[in-house]
Amino acid sequence: MIYIAHRGASGHAPENTLLSVKTALSMGACWIEVDVFLVEDEVIVIHDRWLERTTNGSGDVTQKPLAYIRSLDAGKGEKIPTLKEVIDMVAGKAGINIELKGPNTAGPVATLLTHYLETHRLRKDNVIISSFDHQQLLKMKSLAPNLSTGANIYGLPLHNAKFAEALGVSSIHAHTNFINRAFVNDAHDRGFKVFAFTVNQPEELMRMKTLGVDGIFTNYPEIGRTALKQE
Ligand code: G3P
Ligand code: MG
Repeated sequence: MIYIAHRGASGHAPENTLLSVKTALSMGACWIEVDVFLVEDEVIVIHDRWLERTTNGSGDVTQKPLAYIRSLDAGKGEKIPTLKEVIDMVAGKAGINIELKGPNTAGPVATLLTHYLETHRLRKDNVIISSFDHQQLLKMKSLAPNLSTGANIYGLPLHNAKFAEALGVSSIHAHTNFINRAFVNDAHDRGFKVFAFTVNQPEELMRMKTLGVDGIFTNYPEIGRTALKQE
């Protein structure tokens, strides 16, 4: 099982900030997930389209000047980071799962990653691009065919993992509410890994293990150790 620090170690530090990423690394996380939007020409790291929940700003991220976005407090005095800042912090220390949350992010993210790969600052094995927007996943696959992609889903598709075959993904990232054994078995039979989001309770971790998932997203990178202690 792999453990993916969800929005960094977001149970311990403001989500999707350099502090949450640094905290996840210091806790020994092997993978870190962040969400991205495009503002002007910069890929930035934030989960919501609207600024109110996680910052002292307001309004639609995609409609704001980059200078305004960068002036905001994303919690504990942290700025909204750029994807470059996050990759620079994570590269060589852990894998990075970049979730394309905003529209029109596939192109800029592919360009950025291609640059990091060509300059040997990142290894392709340490990158997964995911999204609920499966059209952007297909675009990413065409722009950067060597990179692994993951299809996010919230729900249980009619034919289990069959939908993912058209996407060329390596993994399916599914919500814990909908994962069952038939889905996991079908995904495995078709050659996909299954990663579950978001698992923050040791009991939920054990339930996911029993269902045979290959990894979990968690706000608490220490959850594996906590669960072991409770066993
Ligand atoms: O990629 C897994 C998970 O991050 C998807 O949900 O809303 O937390 O981005 P969300
Ligand atoms: Mg996410």
